[in-house]
Amino acid sequence: MQQAIESRPPPEAHPAPHRPSLQLAARLAAQPFCEVEQWDSDEPIPIKELERGVAGAHGLLCLLSDRVDKRILDAAGANLKVISTLSVGVDHLALDEIKKRGIRVGYTPDVLTDATAELAVSLLLTTCRRLPEAIEEVKNGGWTSWKPLWLCGYGLTQSTVGIVGLGRIGQAIARRLKPFGVQRFLYTGRQPRPEEAAEFQAEFVSTPELAAQSDFIVVACSLTPATKGLCNKDFFQKMKETAVFVNISRGDVVNQDDLYQALASGQIAAAGLDVTTPEPLPTNHPLLTLKNCVILPHIGSATHRTRNTMSMLAANNLLAGLRGEPMPSELML
Ligand code: NDP
Ligand code: DGY
Repeated sequence: MQQAIESRPPPEAHPAPHRPSLQLAARLAAQPFCEVEQWDSDEPIPIKELERGVAGAHGLLCLLSDRVDKRILDAAGANLKVISTLSVGVDHLALDEIKKRGIRVGYTPDVLTDATAELAVSLLLTTCRRLPEAIEEVKNGGWTSWKPLWLCGYGLTQSTVGIVGLGRIGQAIARRLKPFGVQRFLYTGRQPRPEEAAEFQAEFVSTPELAAQSDFIVVACSLTPATKGLCNKDFFQKMKETAVFVNISRGDVVNQDDLYQALASGQIAAAGLDVTTPEPLPTNHPLLTLKNCVILPHIGSATHRTRNTMSMLAANNLLAGLRGEPMPSELML
């Protein structure tokens, strides 16, 4: 994958990117008015390299792993007019500082909603029906016979599901969970969303109520100062002992030490995380020692089709921003 692509119009030369694995590099390189400099690696660009590469650029195409803060904006200088991120999450961007400088931001909402909701449901089922443990038992000889209570988990039928953040992805998750026989949906957010909630007869409740009443909790909110650490000791203490917790938003919404305590002490039944702090999670992290914690490496939107659509949208956002035209998906600052 390419990341941190800077564009400088107008160019003398427009070099083709090496090994383009997504369509975005080809799309950018094909623009006669673009000079493209590309970090051509799947590994994150080192900060120093980003500072060097972005200096004087008019546009920056970045990934969610590229923290675009004051230091990077200073390194870019006054030419920078547009930042396009290959993500819907924008918590890696210093939005106040970006707004102050009059820089426009493009992002990739909607096109990844289905893939991410699908992954959230997969992770929920994997966690509540204990699939990783079950697969392991088959491999290690723990499967000796059919036993009445062995590897029992929790099912969705007649359950109450709580969704933290009934936005695009939160709704798509509820839509997919409903046919499993969920009895009741609860949700939280900054304010009720009666129109969106009507489809699921979802009830707007306070965060403590959602924690206390849900059998399954799925976190699908954006990471903001208000949601940072939202799922903490208090939250987990309110949850049922039989409840399952899933987070597909951002790692920082969860206090991981508190989650570890809740899982290790049996205060909650299990957790499935697609996102952690940090990413990657160190392989010696305590959460990885727990059988009732399933951790995935941030693969919510990782389907071939979705990533290519995201990359085209990110390229088109960047190009529209460089031309001073309306972007297909602009984040209004
Ligand atoms: P939306 O903007 O549609 O939804 C964001 C949700 O966050 C809204 O429902 C909003 O609710 C909620 N929210 C904001 N502030 C709070 C708060 N203080 N308390 C509770 N809820 C709050 O975004 P998307 O659904 O498209 O994406 C959501 C997030 O999912 C992204 O920001 C990203 O971090 C993450 N994501 C993760 C992926 C992965 O690979 N795991 C893939 C894609 C996205 P309201 O407005 O009602 O307050
Ligand atoms: C996002 O877009 O914010 C995801 O985390 C990755 O697709």
